[in-house]
Amino acid sequence: MSNAERPWMNPDLSVEERTEALLREMTREECISQLLQVRVDQVTSEQLQGALGSVILAASATAGNDAQEESSAEQVDALQRVAVEESRLGIPFISGRDVIHGHHTVFPVPLGQAASWDPDLVEQGCRVAAVEASADGIHWTFSPMVDICRDPRWGRIMEGYGESVHLMAELGAAAVRGYQTEDPSAPDAMAACAKHFAGYGAAEGGRDYNSTEITRSTLQDVYLPPFEALVKAGCLTFMSSFNEIDGISSAANPFLLDELLRKRWGFDGFVVTDWDAVRELLAHGIAADGAEAAAKCLNAGADMNMVDGLYAEHLPALLAEGIVSEASLREAVRRILRVKFRLGLFERPYTGKRVVDRAPHKQLARNVAARCCVMLKRGRSLPLPEEESLALLGPLATATQDLFGSWTLDGIPGEVLSLLDAFREAEPERKILHADWGDSSGMDHAVAWANRVLLVLGESASRSGEAHSVGDPTLPPGQTELLEQVLRLGKPVILLVIAGRPLVLPEAAQRCDSILYSFHPGSEGGRGLADVVLGRVEPEGRLPVTLPRSVGQIPLYYDHKPTGRPTDEYHRPEGSPGGMRLIDQPGSPLYRFGYGLGYSRYELGEPRVLEASIENGIRVELQVKNVGEHAGSTVIQAYTRIPVAERSQPVRQLSAFQRVRLAAGEEMRCTLQIQPEILAYTHLDGERRVDAGPVHLWIGLHASDGKRIELSL
Ligand code: GLC
Repeated sequence: MSNAERPWMNPDLSVEERTEALLREMTREECISQLLQVRVDQVTSEQLQGALGSVILAASATAGNDAQEESSAEQVDALQRVAVEESRLGIPFISGRDVIHGHHTVFPVPLGQAASWDPDLVEQGCRVAAVEASADGIHWTFSPMVDICRDPRWGRIMEGYGESVHLMAELGAAAVRGYQTEDPSAPDAMAACAKHFAGYGAAEGGRDYNSTEITRSTLQDVYLPPFEALVKAGCLTFMSSFNEIDGISSAANPFLLDELLRKRWGFDGFVVTDWDAVRELLAHGIAADGAEAAAKCLNAGADMNMVDGLYAEHLPALLAEGIVSEASLREAVRRILRVKFRLGLFERPYTGKRVVDRAPHKQLARNVAARCCVMLKRGRSLPLPEEESLALLGPLATATQDLFGSWTLDGIPGEVLSLLDAFREAEPERKILHADWGDSSGMDHAVAWANRVLLVLGESASRSGEAHSVGDPTLPPGQTELLEQVLRLGKPVILLVIAGRPLVLPEAAQRCDSILYSFHPGSEGGRGLADVVLGRVEPEGRLPVTLPRSVGQIPLYYDHKPTGRPTDEYHRPEGSPGGMRLIDQPGSPLYRFGYGLGYSRYELGEPRVLEASIENGIRVELQVKNVGEHAGSTVIQAYTRIPVAERSQPVRQLSAFQRVRLAAGEEMRCTLQIQPEILAYTHLDGERRVDAGPVHLWIGLHASDGKRIELSL
């Protein structure tokens, strides 16, 4: 067909006009083919010649912890030539891959990035990921994951931005901006994917894929707002989740995929089901066979079928029998074509050869790894005093690939510097002694000679991630004993924990002089963490999740409900009297949501409420002064509570935050804007809206900080 016969190739037409022009030409078979996503290791020329919708650059159900074939522009372009030049209509496929926290340059896992409390930093990292991944022929990433998680046993807690609705929404939207930019058709942009829609992080017991028990109001007030924020950010695709809510798998849930996503939120991109999720309706027991599963999912609004082949197998008959309508089929195709036009795939189906300068990417990754490190206890060992010798011990002291964390498909292990090598590179003249775990005499010797110890404990990359939940989220076996052994040697210990989840730390951790926490810091994590310990970069991280005191406390999260017998254990000052929900231990966390230390101290002035209305939300300002001896950064956090409502509301909810940077002695006026929708909740009629009436407000440096301000909307 010439371009004259292909009006959809006319870039002067609108996306809608081009979509309709192409859709009119497509046969039923070509329409069905557009809804299919096939594995790159199984795709055939015949499928490509028949208008295949998508190729997934993954070859296993749990790509996050399985080695994956490298993807390359050459490989994708070769397949694309078949699709574009050997098919009737020349429709390009969209390639997809899990670029979750970086591509070749690996950033901290998303939970680690969340510790930055810096949307701009997250956006920069995702921008770098898109530049690198698009150069390898990746058109679409299955990221950001915005599943709220309140249970550190869940392996995929590492993949999202923590337990707070507002922080998740802000950072998820930043990720979308980073991947797609204002112009998703730019050569170095790629489509984002809001996943897993919805409620996947509520898996009972933190056991992956497990049932969730989510009430309608909790679904709408906790698990859904981050996804709505991503629609507003222009996210081009959604992925339905594996889990069932109220017995209905999200892949076949018309309330989620149609009523909410389309009709209420106005999302006009497309939905892809998760790996095999259509077929999983059989296991859920809500479809008797593949045909019923395919019909339920497509009719619910699941447009593209990831890899299980049930749409290909059953749609022809389902359409012939009228169980799936032609209109439903074509609406699904319309959504997919719309995204492809917006991505510029028809203008630029091929990537070609691109050279990417990764040096600035690595520098950024190093800076992010350092800034996302959370200092839980400073003591006298941070930053490491000049000239002092250091014994660098522990199972993660020489780790390289494990610094990546889970969901790293395209990192380059060979370029990762371990912590030990990073210290030696940074300060070749400093005396650093190392002994492997298990070399007891070597460790004794190293500690005897050193002024201080840096003990690096924590998790391998594969102890978290998909299908990698744990029943005991404490330090892996033997590490507590190692900590005790090192403490007995009598030198000051800096404990550095590197993990994919908030771990329950042993009592011995409190006997360390200093404590740092890093959620798998990525390919430049060794250098970044060395920069922190050596004082080159201030640890700026603030916890995006609660660190429980014990496994028995789980789930423990900051935005809990008051109940009829409030104990306020989470937010009550340490040691203050009050009720106990458990008789054998306190109910307060070891470290609270939003907590983290820096090298300076800050004084917050009296907050002044400038505005409080249903229309405009709450605007509040306060003076912030750095009263320490060093320049530094902190995060001013605003929390609200609706004290009286139709349904009981959380005791506190993060509602606004702002990172500030101040020189020693410098002060500034900080203004925080709490958007009205953050004060909305699901009323008895099932609708979310904001009430006029009282609101409590706290401004502070973590979830339990600040004095209560009472105001009224
Ligand atoms: C996996 C994950 C999903 C991922 C997809 C493709 O099972 O649940 O997050 O994007 O399959 O790898």
